[in-house]
Amino acid sequence: MITHTYGPRGTCRELITNKSPAILLSGPAGTGKSRACLEKLMLIALKYPGCRLLILRKTLASLGSTALVTWRTKVAPEALKSGEVYFYGGSSEEAAQYRFRNGSTITVGGMDKAQKIMSSEYDAAYIQEATELTPNDWEMISTRLRNGVVPYQQLIADCNPDRPNHWLHEKTRTGEVVMLHSRHEDNPTLYRPDGSLTPSGASYISRLDALTGVRFQRLRRGLWVAAEGLVYDDYDPAVHLIDRFDIPDSWPRYWVIDFGFTNPFVCQWWAEDPDGRLYLYREIYRTQRLVEDHAKDVLGQVQKRDGTWREPKPVAVICDHDAEDRATFTRHSGFSTSPAKKGKTEGLQVTQARFKVAKDGRPRIFFLRDSLVKRDQALVDAGKPTSTVDEITGYVWPQGKTGDKAEEPVKEDDHGMDCARYMVAYRDLRGRTRLRYL
Ligand SMILES: Nc1ncnc2c1ncn2[C@@H]1O[C@H](COP(=O)(O)OP(=O)(O)OP(=O)(O)O)[C@@H](O)[C@H]1O
Ligand SMILES: [Mg+2]
Repeated sequence: MITHTYGPRGTCRELITNKSPAILLSGPAGTGKSRACLEKLMLIALKYPGCRLLILRKTLASLGSTALVTWRTKVAPEALKSGEVYFYGGSSEEAAQYRFRNGSTITVGGMDKAQKIMSSEYDAAYIQEATELTPNDWEMISTRLRNGVVPYQQLIADCNPDRPNHWLHEKTRTGEVVMLHSRHEDNPTLYRPDGSLTPSGASYISRLDALTGVRFQRLRRGLWVAAEGLVYDDYDPAVHLIDRFDIPDSWPRYWVIDFGFTNPFVCQWWAEDPDGRLYLYREIYRTQRLVEDHAKDVLGQVQKRDGTWREPKPVAVICDHDAEDRATFTRHSGFSTSPAKKGKTEGLQVTQARFKVAKDGRPRIFFLRDSLVKRDQALVDAGKPTSTVDEITGYVWPQGKTGDKAEEPVKEDDHGMDCARYMVAYRDLRGRTRLRYL
């Protein structure tokens, strides 16, 4: 009888139970991602005798100095000591392996020595720092997962975030890979259960807080950001992205539309809670379609076949300024529209303010997961954002600038961002008098 203790928290816990075919634990430095992935492999190895598992990284040498140290010292020390598991060093043809008494094996490899691992089949693989791989590496590993001893085959990966248009991030956008966001609070060596920092946590986090620029955003905040400054730099998927819930009928609804044909047409559905917080709960984000067809799609989302409503009607339909498109939408939907508030700078400021976490511990803007009605394959193929949430971490100020009053963010992939700003401006700039001192 050997005893091993591991208490996973947050998304690290979720990783252990999730059975999606491909899952990525993404997050800033040191949240416990690799530990969680390795603990999961250990559980699978013990639970399914005779299974074949794989741990790999881009290079075998980098694996030896990282994941394997955690494996030996944190995950498997008891099992190694008791002889439940032993290490087989491999040969010129064979990769090294951890062999279990119950017949399970965990092979250790690097993509730099791919031939040693690619001739076998596996039940599950853990790829450490998966952003280092090429899409081709990823595909190759996927094709090896068909051993069939474990009832589900799974590719488990972890990484620190990279740029938003990284191929791995694109795979999470299309749904091919499920992404979980881990946080520093998930790691009990850094944070106590009550949310206070441990002494070693305090020194670790203060080192991360000293990072600047894109490294700070990725390694401290865990964001997939480009190298320039983010417009909504308070955005935190762990805070602003929330699970779906039944929205009470009493909450007012708003529709916000940004017309487009080559660029995506975006229609966002928002609900407002009694405290004035805004929730994006549905959206259409599609290219190459006529306004009249979009109008039908919009109604299709809210009305049953017989024309009765599934949810409250919008109290306002807020649109960009294109007069002809607005008229077409009205003709085909029956809803008159209000033009979005002009004044981009002011709109951006009030929207930024909503992203800040208020005294009650919550921001004033939220995005419900899976709000997108249908992913536009043309956008996926073009490597473009496919939803509003996708745009947030690519919505940046021009290089070297940080939101000076006279400036505007880079005008690219900002259609959902425009809608969100129209929404907030409609609520927060209403009735505000513009004072001019003469
Ligand atoms: N639930 C836990 N219980 C005890 N220790 C933990 C737990 N989670 C993480 N740790 C410890 O915290 C340290 C950092 O964890 P780990 O290496 O898994 O982080 P990481 O997120 O993979 O970091 P990086 O981003 O640098 O790759 C390790 O020593 C690990 O054993
Ligand atoms: Mg790690």
